[in-house]
Amino acid sequence: MNSDIPPLRPDSLPRHIAIIMDGNGRWAKKRSLNRIRGHREGAESVRNIVRACREMGIEVLTLYAFSTENWQRPRPEILALMGLLKSFLRSELGEMMENGIRLNAIGQIERFPDDVLTVLREVMDQTRKNPGMILNLALSYGGRDEIVTAARRIAAEVQAGRLQSEEITEGVFSKYLYTEGMPEPDLLIRTSGEMRISNFLLWQIAYTEICVTDTLWPDFRRDELIQILHDYEKRERRFGVTGDQIKKTPRRGLTE
Ligand code: IPE
Ligand code: IPE
Ligand code: MG
Repeated sequence: MNSDIPPLRPDSLPRHIAIIMDGNGRWAKKRSLNRIRGHREGAESVRNIVRACREMGIEVLTLYAFSTENWQRPRPEILALMGLLKSFLRSELGEMMENGIRLNAIGQIERFPDDVLTVLREVMDQTRKNPGMILNLALSYGGRDEIVTAARRIAAEVQAGRLQSEEITEGVFSKYLYTEGMPEPDLLIRTSGEMRISNFLLWQIAYTEICVTDTLWPDFRRDELIQILHDYEKRERRFGVTGDQIKKTPRRGLTE
């Protein structure tokens, strides 16, 4: 860590950081390499950022690793991403256990090939009781899919008579999302400059602070994350009320 960066204030750290890890292909293209080399280098950034977040005491780190739309990419690229995911899970299990990290996956994971799913389920199972940071991987994830899936599950509950339609509040609805029980993201980072959400956490980011950096994901490491967290510290999150109100009664989320 650079010694000229002042320490972060623990009370203003985000509880939940979500990252759209974008730019692997462009990183490779700039070096006249195959896109897959970009994904491989991107996996190194994942290791670096997971470690940094865990050391800082972040509660949840959600990483957008594969979207529902990414299934339309060329098959060799999809297969390479699956292979990388599998080897990442295998190589990181030891460190997750040592550091109390719990792995969770959000998205249509059943669409993954059996070999990948087996490793994923094994790592989730083995880390299930770890008390530390939740590493939440968004895999075959789409925000619209998540909302539709929640709506279907709620409809089934209503149909079975276990839930009244008047009882469906925002709080109840959010319990049917993949992120059930997790705090909403305080900070969303997107690398490689694109000013879009690309179907990520559509419901959960209602009041999330957004930071877009031009850095390509394989070049994104701890020092830049710390710079972003310093910038986040200075932001005034108002949740729709006035600046004076928020100073008198600070809050940490939309529902707090
Ligand atoms: C992000 O990098 C990784 C995934 C979406 C799986 P990209 O592969 O989208 O890289 P660019 O956007 O083409 O540079
Ligand atoms: C978003 O990146 C998805 C992931 C980072 C997994 P994309 O590269 O797929 O997004 P678009 O297509 O540029 O919006
Ligand atoms: Mg991209």
